[in-house]
Parts: sequence; structure tokens; C-alpha cells
Amino acid sequence: MKFFADTAELEEIRELTATGLLDGVTTNPSLIKKSGRDFLEVIKEICDLVEGPVSAEVVATDFDTMVKEALKLSAIAKNIVIKVPMTLDGLKTCKLLSEKKIMVNVTLCFSANQALLAAKAGASFISPFVGRLDDISEDGMALIEDIRLIYDNYGFETQILVASIRHPIHVLEAARIGADAATIPTDVLRKLFHHPLTDKGLEAFLKDWEETGQTIL
Ligand code: E4P
Repeated sequence: MKFFADTAELEEIRELTATGLLDGVTTNPSLIKKSGRDFLEVIKEICDLVEGPVSAEVVATDFDTMVKEALKLSAIAKNIVIKVPMTLDGLKTCKLLSEKKIMVNVTLCFSANQALLAAKAGASFISPFVGRLDDISEDGMALIEDIRLIYDNYGFETQILVASIRHPIHVLEAARIGADAATIPTDVLRKLFHHPLTDKGLEAFLKDWEETGQTIL
């Protein structure tokens, strides 16, 4: 499963890139606001750091302006993925961009039928928001199961990019279901490294090593 960082914070992306674990980055207007940075500048800097897909979201809601924004954003770098909302105009834009071989991520997906439409419109990625569904007492992961089944039934190549991840169990369940990718907030990504038995075991090994009086270097 591919790991994308769900952030527009350069320093966090730089550190994660060094682990080799990062396959891409997703941003949205709220993450850009949180970064306090100029949108076009920060997207360019992220693309300079990351080789994989970097999602940049259009903010227009009508087809003509969405296409203009998308073409401007896609000129920033080869690895830009245009994020469009799951609306009729968004899917028209998706179809046009995919015909031009520009990758599209359809965002704000909350139903399997929406995911089916996005795949038919040629989306490279669909972003189902599991956390926001859980927040309203719906089963976010059941949506991922449904989309996996539907895409496999028809051989759609659209990648399921699980979004709105809130905790490590979301990552585990997405991997069990066979989602293609998960976009993960950096604090959740860091939690994946940790296990209390790892910390306890390392502490014991280091204590015993110290008592041998030996050094490696
Ligand atoms: C990523 O593509 C989404 O915009 C993001 O995962 C949404 O997460 P949130 O529901 O925590 O805002």
C-alpha cells in the first residue's frame, strides 16, 4: 500500500522523504491555510522534494474555471495530480483532464456510487473520506470495502486513496481491505512506528550491552 502524507508542511515532508516511506503528498485548501504559505509556491516546493504524485486542489466550482485552474496547477510540475470535488462539474473536468493524460484525484467521496462515477470519468485516484463518515456514525471502512469490490468487479484502474484518516487502525484496515494508498496525517504516520514492547525491548538490550563493557566503534 502506498503512503501519502496529508500535509502542506515542508519540514514534515522533508523528514518523511528521508525514510523512503513516502510515495506522495496530498493537500487541500484547509491544509494550505494551516501552512500559512502561498499555494503555488508551497506546491512547487513540495514537488521539488517528492517524486511521487502531489495533489493540488482546484477551488472553482464551475467547469470552465476549474479547467483553467487545473491547467495552471498542472504546469507547476510533472507529478502534480489535480484534485477536483465529487460534483458534476468536477467529473466533467476529470474526464477532460484524463483525456489530456493529466492525473486527477476526485475528492470528497462519501459513497460507493460516487466512486463508481469517478472511475468512469477516468480518475487516477478516488479519495473516500473515512474519518468524516465515522464522525457521523457511518462506517467509513465499509465504504472502502464496497469500492474495492466494485473496482475489482469491472477492472477499474482508479486507485483507492483512503483519506480523512484519524488513527493507525484506519491504516491497518485500509491495508487489510487492499486499498491502493492511504493519505495519512504526519502525526498518525509517526504513531505507526511505535510499539511499547519495541521501546521496552530496546531499553533492555542497551542495558545488557552496557554491562558487557564492549563498544562496536
Ligand atoms: C485528503 O485528501 C483529504 O483532504 C483529507 O484527508 C481530509 O481529512 P480531514 O477529514 O481530516 O480533514
